[in-house]
Amino acid sequence: MKTELLNFNHLIRAAEIIQEGGLLGIPTETVYGLGADGLNPVAVRSIFQAKGRPQDNPLILHIWSANWLERYCEDIPDAAYRLAERFWPGPLTMILKCKKRTPQELEALRTGPVCSRTHFGPRIIPDVVTAGLDTVGMRCPAHPLCRMIIQMAQTPIAAPSGNTSGRPSPTTAQHMLEDMDGKIPAILDGGPCEVGVESTIIDLTCTPPRLLRPGGVIPEQLEEVLGRVKVDPAVTRQLGKGEKPRAPGMKYRHYAPKAPVTAVKGDPERGAAYIREHLSHTRWDGVICFEEFLPLFVQAAGPVLSLGPAADQAEQARRLFDALRAMDTTDVKHIWAQCPNDSGIGLAVANRLNKAAGFHIVEV
Ligand code: TXA
Ligand code: MG
Repeated sequence: MKTELLNFNHLIRAAEIIQEGGLLGIPTETVYGLGADGLNPVAVRSIFQAKGRPQDNPLILHIWSANWLERYCEDIPDAAYRLAERFWPGPLTMILKCKKRTPQELEALRTGPVCSRTHFGPRIIPDVVTAGLDTVGMRCPAHPLCRMIIQMAQTPIAAPSGNTSGRPSPTTAQHMLEDMDGKIPAILDGGPCEVGVESTIIDLTCTPPRLLRPGGVIPEQLEEVLGRVKVDPAVTRQLGKGEKPRAPGMKYRHYAPKAPVTAVKGDPERGAAYIREHLSHTRWDGVICFEEFLPLFVQAAGPVLSLGPAADQAEQARRLFDALRAMDTTDVKHIWAQCPNDSGIGLAVANRLNKAAGFHIVEV
């Protein structure tokens, strides 16, 4: 299969792919997603296949507006609508109770046409989306092309990030092509992603609400709407053997380039000096540093990439995955990366970097 690159002139073709049960690379404001009709179990199953994603890791659904919530969720707290009012369309995913299915609907799902690419089953969420959980992640994306596709296909779109499982998420159509070429019919090119890290995930099925993954909507903003928010332990540290994360995806090695990463945290100037001191001057060592410290590494033999200015965490979020992917095109055997502190969207950048580093973190 040759993977086509589509643009805004091909929206009808793109929406048809979704309606026919195919897979489509979709731009969102956070990262590119690997999308399929979220109500078609056969289509959704093929997402897992293309990504090599473990079956126990549920997908989130991308919807047009908060008006679609009641079709698929129940016991929706008032807080969900207040969050939607303030942050949707935008980089926020809410975990809500999945609507209970009637015995007739379940039977129709079970006996539906499983070998057909086109789905005539009931308009309910199949278990393969939720990995059998009784909750579901709902997100209303802001990217105009993504919104057009949802509107034209008239279905919630199930989409994980469009990377091969374990790799850094794609923030350009080109990144997605690297991972999915030959595996999916098409990728819709909507330009580079504005946020650059995946959506914030807030679980509204518990009290107080719990932040499962930091992203473009920062904890302080959530607290303005929700009051107290608990940050899930999996956000800031590696879970122990017996600990089960609330977002199943948080337990997997993730965002990782091929070479091992050491994340260097603390004062940026001391961090850069630390890296310079420990850097081997061979081409096997790569560096990802804040812009202002590039001159420190002019002598380095390996690749040196900028994460953006130390004070501009939004720019760091936009650049991180591209930098990690760029390292994979070199033959480095070790990557030193400066890590921002946890304020603002820095929490999301640090979370992704720490996971890429397998929590191999040096505090300076
Ligand atoms: O920005 C984003 O959210 C991107 C774009 C494409 O929308 N999507 C994305 O999907 O990052 P994915 O599948 O790569 O990450 C979704 C995370 C996973 O860690 C998954 O385990 C978690 O959400 N998740 C999904 N459903 C859940 C549920 N019902 N309860 C708890 N966690 C859930
Ligand atoms: Mg992902």
